[in-house]
Amino acid sequence: LEGALTVAGAKNAVLPILAAGLLAEEPLEVRGAPDLSDVRTMRRLLVDLGVSIDERPDGDAQGGDKPGGTLTLHTPNDPDPVAPWEHVRKMRASVCVLGPLLARTGRAEVSLPGGCVFGVRPIDVHLKGLEALGATIEIEHGNIVATAPPGGLKGGEVFLGTAHGPSVTGTMNVLMAACLAEGPSVIHGAACEPEVEDLGRCLQTMGAKILGLGSPTLEIEGVARLAGGQHTVLPDRIEAGTFLVAGALCGGRVRIERCKPNHLMALLDRLKEAGYPIERGPDWIEVRSEGPAQRPRPTDVTTQPHPGFPTDLQAQWMALMSTAEGVSLITERIYPDRYMHLPELVRLGARIRRQEATAVVEGVAQLSGTDVMASDLRASAALVLAGLVAKGTTQVHRVYHLDRGYDRFDLRLQELGAKIRRVRDE
Ligand code: EPZ
Repeated sequence: LEGALTVAGAKNAVLPILAAGLLAEEPLEVRGAPDLSDVRTMRRLLVDLGVSIDERPDGDAQGGDKPGGTLTLHTPNDPDPVAPWEHVRKMRASVCVLGPLLARTGRAEVSLPGGCVFGVRPIDVHLKGLEALGATIEIEHGNIVATAPPGGLKGGEVFLGTAHGPSVTGTMNVLMAACLAEGPSVIHGAACEPEVEDLGRCLQTMGAKILGLGSPTLEIEGVARLAGGQHTVLPDRIEAGTFLVAGALCGGRVRIERCKPNHLMALLDRLKEAGYPIERGPDWIEVRSEGPAQRPRPTDVTTQPHPGFPTDLQAQWMALMSTAEGVSLITERIYPDRYMHLPELVRLGARIRRQEATAVVEGVAQLSGTDVMASDLRASAALVLAGLVAKGTTQVHRVYHLDRGYDRFDLRLQELGAKIRRVRDE
């Protein structure tokens, strides 16, 4: 692969930021919104709640083909507080409208998110955090029914950590609600992911008073109302990381521009450990590799909350280690069952054994192409990466999973020289 690319706005920042539009009493302009099916799903949900959304393409200052657009949200004073199952079942991140709806209207009815292919994903700390702000929570017919006290939410103090570390969207839901609660709130054990920080900066633009963004302790002083504003979504570190792993696997030189290298230090550390020279600047990263001729050194990874190695890059790392010169251990501390990609990589000739939350990956010199089935967003990306270096052709089925979180992934890889094309699935 040879070339440079600009990553789109972060999916896991733009989804909660769109939900934050429910809090704004004036238009909220969101720039650099990526063109993803999950963004379209969130837009449909917000429109059903009464929000009107204008869209225009991001005019790129450099005239380049910067993916993404500007979405301007106009929320009425009385948005509909009911988020139906038909939306939530398609995308768990819909749960991010719970906190804003409750804070803005005093009531919210959001379908309980269903299961997910990589395990049970409870939302108990979302509800615990909202209760700490005075909300009454009931579960009725599979719906979360949240009600604020008559005078509105009151500031409170809560610890949001779970057995697997902080909750990203749990922190986001409680942070958004606390911005309109009366008085001070403190969130302990808050998620430190850059996407939480980006949401916080957007809320500050709208007038929210938040201290500690990016740290495990968030202090919020509630305000009576939030205005609109303009916010540019931060670059997607997981998309950037996926392309860097593709460059390491396939060989050549891949340069990611207009990204934030400081958000990917764990991956860069592991890529260097595996033997790939990394160069970086303030807003670019470049990986060079001899490709399959240079098999990676076996390099262990354990997924952790940020700034640790992100769980959303675990599947991609497994694809890379499948070709390593030895045995590496991949341990999943966030979602111990997030291994749907494992048997599919084995179909491609990888030699991987699972022991509970750890995968033992014995690298092979050559993967061999065949038909494989995508199951979730990052697993799909891992199978595409493996297919790029497997001998022969690999057909990845059900790539709609891929389109949820990657904007034109196949076309962007093609631009780098990959032999990949999208065909209609029979
Ligand atoms: C966010 O999901 C991301 N999604 C996920 O990205 C990401 O994998 C995950 O954070 C972890 O980084 C969005 O931001 C839209 P969590 P989220 O609450 O917020 C447990 C992708 O591929 N937990 O941080 O749902 C939970 O089971 C997606 O882009 C509780 O126990 O994840 C998990 O083990 C996949 N109780 C851990 O915490 C709760 O109330 C972290 O979950 C909430 C979570």
